[in-house]
Amino acid sequence: MTVLEARGLEKTYRGRGKSPLRILKGVSFSVEAGSRVAIVGRSGAGKTTLLNILGGLDAPDSGNVFVDGVPLFGGFLAGRRRQRLRARKIGFVFQSYHLLPDLDIVENVLLPSLAAGGIARSGARARALDLLDRVGLSGRVRHMPSELSGGEQQRVALARALMCNPELILADEPTGNLDSLTGAEIMDLLFELSESGTMSLVMVTHSAEAASRCGTVLRLDSGTIVQ
Ligand SMILES: Nc1ncnc2c1ncn2[C@@H]1O[C@H](COP(=O)(O)OP(=O)(O)O)[C@@H](O)[C@H]1O
Ligand SMILES: [Mg+2]
Repeated sequence: MTVLEARGLEKTYRGRGKSPLRILKGVSFSVEAGSRVAIVGRSGAGKTTLLNILGGLDAPDSGNVFVDGVPLFGGFLAGRRRQRLRARKIGFVFQSYHLLPDLDIVENVLLPSLAAGGIARSGARARALDLLDRVGLSGRVRHMPSELSGGEQQRVALARALMCNPELILADEPTGNLDSLTGAEIMDLLFELSESGTMSLVMVTHSAEAASRCGTVLRLDSGTIVQ
């Protein structure tokens, strides 16, 4: 079963007085349920642009992304419904963690459940606490992000990504800001947590070792995918 399909994605950045930058020139691929896909390529190749479009955080100029067959862009899916679909089915992990600084770590983990709607409050909090326990932070639940190390913040981000039990995790260089030992721990944890059978992982990484643990490696080069 295909969980995610990118079809003919094109993206050009245009700035006033600057020559247009064609980043994606027709990117197509699909991701099967339960599979792991690494996206590699040189810095500036457009990996982050692609990942943001796959998750509906940015829009392509043309082409579309289908999540369980439902198009993310255009058509009948208005902004709010797209946001809920995204929150229910996709978990995000960013290179620089992107935790909200004014919320404690339980509240950060709870955020996707608010965006997804429809999860009972007490159940959601219990799940957030359970996830924080699974990432080894049960003793820190009242802490603020600024009181945690980078690796600990990324653990919170992993718990947050899993909050709505997504079908798909999109991770953009999740260990890019961490020292190699901490990065390896986070990578192990990410693989372990995403091992629940039907969950798929699409990860941008510079680590050959991490890419080799994925069933599929896609190289983004000159705006197209080279398998
Ligand atoms: N919002 C933007 N406006 C203009 N150019 C951008 C924007 N975002 C990214 N770029 C440019 O697009 C190219 C691809 O960026 P990015 O997707 O971040 O690449 P990667 O993640 O592979 O390093 C880079 O040259 C970058 O400078
Ligand atoms: Mg990037």
